Amino acid sequence: MLRDWSDAYRIGIDEIDQQHQGFFAASHQLYEAILNREGREGVIEALAFMRDYAETHFTTEEDFMRRHAYPDLAAHLRQHIAFMRHLDALEDDLRTFGASQELADRALDLTQDWLIDHIADEDVLYALHVKAGGLGERRAAHLERPTDPDL
Ligand SMILES: [Fe+2]
Repeated sequence: MLRDWSDAYRIGIDEIDQQHQGFFAASHQLYEAILNREGREGVIEALAFMRDYAETHFTTEEDFMRRHAYPDLAAHLRQHIAFMRHLDALEDDLRTFGASQELADRALDLTQDWLIDHIADEDVLYALHVKAGGLGERRAAHLERPTDPDL
């Protein structure tokens, strides 16, 4: 089911919340490209956009978690890698079988529904870690640059 972005999905970190909204929009574009049978080019373009967006967004999150010394980074990275593998499989099937309602639904399930679950189950955890006083930016920066005399 196509859902609209909602404030209920916010984790309270502006840059990441904004990217999650963009991820949502990319998901809807992909669904509509498949459903409207915009032709092979349109679907491949929407998939490429989704892939680029996901890569950029995951890099932002991973950098953020590293800066805050998030202890469950490895498990979170595995989720991101699994998402990209599912996207590869979807692309293979679209290239092999062509667009269909079933593949449009699968795309929505993989991108929109995955994102909603991932925000609720995983992203909130690093947000809580930071809000609960997990290693702050300043101290994390100090660990990355231990010889900086200003710290
Ligand atoms: Fe994430």
